[in-house]
Amino acid sequence: MNLKTYIGVFFIFILAIVIYSFASSPSIAIGAEGNGNENKSLIERGKYLVTIGGCHDCHTPKKFGPEGMSFDMERHFSGHPAEDKLPEVPDGVLGMDGWGFLGNHHLTGFAGPWGITYAANLTPDEETGIGSWTEEMFIKAMRTGQHMGEGRPIMPPMPWFNLAEAKEEDLKAMFAYFMSLPPIHNPVPEPVLRGK
Ligand code: HEC
Repeated sequence: MNLKTYIGVFFIFILAIVIYSFASSPSIAIGAEGNGNENKSLIERGKYLVTIGGCHDCHTPKKFGPEGMSFDMERHFSGHPAEDKLPEVPDGVLGMDGWGFLGNHHLTGFAGPWGITYAANLTPDEETGIGSWTEEMFIKAMRTGQHMGEGRPIMPPMPWFNLAEAKEEDLKAMFAYFMSLPPIHNPVPEPVLRGK
């Protein structure tokens, strides 16, 4: 084999490897990979923000074991468990002269002077979560304190007024994270607002 043939064979060999790797791995398409990474870092940032923002506290059911209370991560962000009915509120405990407000052991159901509220399902389940919401609806709801951005007022103890101060890109990141979660079907009960 002379030098020219040798270089030729070597070149064809390298070309074959390059073609094979392009054909066998779709993610090698540079544009798509770029977008994937951007989306991944948005989701990662959203995860970080909802963790330090304390959203699990009310939106994730709890487990109780020898170590005490912990988040039930198998159903994280699925909101108040639909099957957990709240007991009757005894007379005279709500308001300024009583306990003020009551909550269940999951910290997902609350009774107060405003009525009874349940933490929403924030997973992307279309029927019972926020799967049918757009990013705009999420941002508007958090900015205005209105259900889905234009409905009834969002009631306590949802601290939407803290989120109203969040930067646009942070709210986008949170929404992207919620949308990346496994959807969980959990029909959280409607609130019972006082006087209704
Ligand atoms: C102290 C408890 C509590 C914390 C902490 C909390 N939430 Fe909520 N959240 C609620 C309750 C209760 C509701 C239902 C309120 C209602 O039905 O009016 C709710 C509702 C929502 C809704 C639905 C709003 C709508 O338009 O109906 C979204 C979205 C939401 N919370 C996002 C978040 C995010 C994001 C965080 C973390 C930054 C968070 N929540 C932290 C209690 C809480």
